[in-house]
Amino acid sequence: MPTLAVYPGSFDPLTNGHVDIISRGARLFDRIIVAILVNAEKAPLFSMEERVEITRAVFRDQPNVEVDTFDGLLVDYVARRRAQVIVRGLRAVSDFEFEFQMALMNQRLDPTIETIFMMPAEQYTYISSRLIKEVFALGGRVHGLVPDMVETRLREKLAAQPIGAGKKSR
Ligand code: PNS
Repeated sequence: MPTLAVYPGSFDPLTNGHVDIISRGARLFDRIIVAILVNAEKAPLFSMEERVEITRAVFRDQPNVEVDTFDGLLVDYVARRRAQVIVRGLRAVSDFEFEFQMALMNQRLDPTIETIFMMPAEQYTYISSRLIKEVFALGGRVHGLVPDMVETRLREKLAAQPIGAGKKSR
C-alpha cells in the first residue's frame, strides 16, 4: 500500500523551513499532502487562496506533493484522505512540548495514525512564519528564508499598506 503523509499547518506564509520539510517528506513517502488549515487565524496576512497558490507554485515540479485545505479535526481529515502519517517539523526543544501534546492527542483520537517528526536543515531551525512577518514589516531582510514568490508577495503587501517610519530598503 502506498504511504500517504499529511503535513498540516497554517503556512502564513510558507517558509524555506516548510519547503525543506516537505521536500524531505516527498523523498520518504509516496505522496505528501500539504494541508493548509482554514481559518487558523482570524486575520491571516496571506489569504487561503494565496497560500495554496504559492505552495502549488513552489512544488509544481514535484508530482508527489499535493496541496489541499482542511478544517475541523486534523485526524478526521487524515482519515478521510486515507493517509497513515502526520508529518510535523521540530526545530528546537521549545517546539517539543506543544508538538508532544498534539501528537498524543491525535494518537488518542485516532490510534491508527502515526505522527512523524522531521528536523529541517540547521540553517532553517530558527525560522517561523511569525518571525518572518515581523522582521519583514519592520524593514528586515528575509531573503533566503522564504521562497522568492513569498518575498515578492510580502513586498507587494507592504507597498499596498505601508507601515511608515522604520521602513528600510531590503
Ligand atoms: O502551522 P501550525 O499553526 O503550527 O499548525 C497547527 C495545526 C494546523 C497542525 C493544528 O492547529 C491543527 O491540527 N489544527 C486542526 C484542529 C485539530 O485537529 N486540533 C487538535 C490537534 S491535537
